[in-house]
Amino acid sequence: MSATDLRSTAAWTALQNHYAHARDWRMRDLFDVDTQRFHAFSEEAAGIFLDYSKNAVTRETMDLLCALARERGVEAQRAAMFAGDRINNTEQRAVLHTALRVPRGEKLMLDGQDINAEVHAVLDRLGHCAERVRSGDWTGYTGQAITDVVNIGIGGSYLGPKMVCEALRGIAHPRIAMHFVSNVDGHDLDALLARVKPETTLFIVASKTFTTQETMMNAQSARAWFLKTGEEADLARHFVAVSTNTQAVTDFGIDPANMFGFWDWVGGRYSVWSAIGLPVAIAVGHDGFREFLAGAHGMDQHFCSAPLERNLPAILALVGIWNRNFLGSTSISVAPYHQDLASFPGYLEQLDMESNGKRVDRDGAPLSVATSPVIWGDTGTNGQHAYFQMLHQGTDPVPVDFIAALRPSHALAGHQEALLANCFAQSEALMRGRTQDEVAAELQAQGLAADRIAALAPHRTFPGNRPSNTLLLQSLTPASLGALIALYEHKVFVQGVIWGINSFDQWGVELGKVLARAIQNELMTAPDVDAHDASTNGLIARAREALQA
Ligand code: F6P
Repeated sequence: MSATDLRSTAAWTALQNHYAHARDWRMRDLFDVDTQRFHAFSEEAAGIFLDYSKNAVTRETMDLLCALARERGVEAQRAAMFAGDRINNTEQRAVLHTALRVPRGEKLMLDGQDINAEVHAVLDRLGHCAERVRSGDWTGYTGQAITDVVNIGIGGSYLGPKMVCEALRGIAHPRIAMHFVSNVDGHDLDALLARVKPETTLFIVASKTFTTQETMMNAQSARAWFLKTGEEADLARHFVAVSTNTQAVTDFGIDPANMFGFWDWVGGRYSVWSAIGLPVAIAVGHDGFREFLAGAHGMDQHFCSAPLERNLPAILALVGIWNRNFLGSTSISVAPYHQDLASFPGYLEQLDMESNGKRVDRDGAPLSVATSPVIWGDTGTNGQHAYFQMLHQGTDPVPVDFIAALRPSHALAGHQEALLANCFAQSEALMRGRTQDEVAAELQAQGLAADRIAALAPHRTFPGNRPSNTLLLQSLTPASLGALIALYEHKVFVQGVIWGINSFDQWGVELGKVLARAIQNELMTAPDVDAHDASTNGLIARAREALQA
């Protein structure tokens, strides 16, 4: 698909004309005139309910946005992705993370191979390993069961498994503690190694490429730490690898029998469904991991079959395009009202910004519209006491995605009602706001003098009209979490197609890596460094001085 300029499409022009009126809408009024607005602008699929009525859209807006999606070829690109076409054009790769969650036996041929059979073969090995660790059959070198699993990986080889393990901690194996080390900063690994014992620890070295500096350095240090007490021959009981690079795994000293493979058609940030999910399988068991995959598959099926008008990922994407490209929002705040989803905003940061943080189209031409907004956030009521002030009264309207599970997995009385009340109150406040007249009336009722009311009213006024989506799960389970993640994956995909970009490469991370290699060398060996700009030279000099003192 060649990416013609988005702004020259008929649908974009229609949306611009539409926006000329829409810019003056007040959501309060939209709710007042349409008592059915909640029903008209909400959808449910694969166990997820999406209320997008608190966005400044009408039916006409959504129809125009759907027309845009069609004109940009979303449906054809969706079919191409699921069929294994090489839609990652800069790397000439298929994009088939969806194939990882297809049930056994549904044949999908790629380059002459039935990848469904390959996927399930790895899944079976993964499940076998996970169950052995869980049951205590997999023992360390002293014959004791594993009590600590340390995942060493970064980016997609870290954010996904960590987020999912945290989200499902309520059903995790009670004997096995999960740890995640990602940062090359030795403080990360050092602090952890002080807390675990070599004889009962299993390290998973997770890296698609098995060349990533942070992961390789942490893995080497973990190996050296282990060998202070264990023998070389014991390594096989304590180190397993997840990678696409058999040679590098072997060179590192991990037996290929302890390696779980995946494929170049699985992007790092889309890899939690692959063997990269091994920590998840150990935490919640093979069955739990399969439920997680099944939940995502349910969302895939919905995404492939529902018309765009009723299609959750498409709706989320289109509302996002409206907010980003027409209303001009530069960021999205993600607010999970569930403590176990604390790492979900961080996970979405990589998913969205590494995928769609691009400035040229698929053909390399500069884009004429803004792409990925900044994704950020924290758990709901914690955020309320930190940055929600800015969401309500700051100068930049920031759309919010509220995410909640209706039923808790604890039995503490009253907490869930309080949590949900806060969640719903925030989106109501953002949408309705509070006018200066409403504030004045309230202060008058409290008996304040007119001059005091005039002084306070501007500070206590909320502009409102600030967009949000609310996503509700019945409860947080492997299946509903799988569906939630797949929903966002497809949202990002749809936006990428509309913007005309390749969402599946990440060249932007390369330059810093190359420069870091050179600087690392200079920090360790070079006497005086003048190869850089004055700032970088100066920083290197100061660091050398401190390191050599
Ligand atoms: O540097 C970015 C990146 O390539 C991510 O896309 C990826 O998830 C991460 O590094 C880790 O890569 P790997 O799994 O190959 O170690």
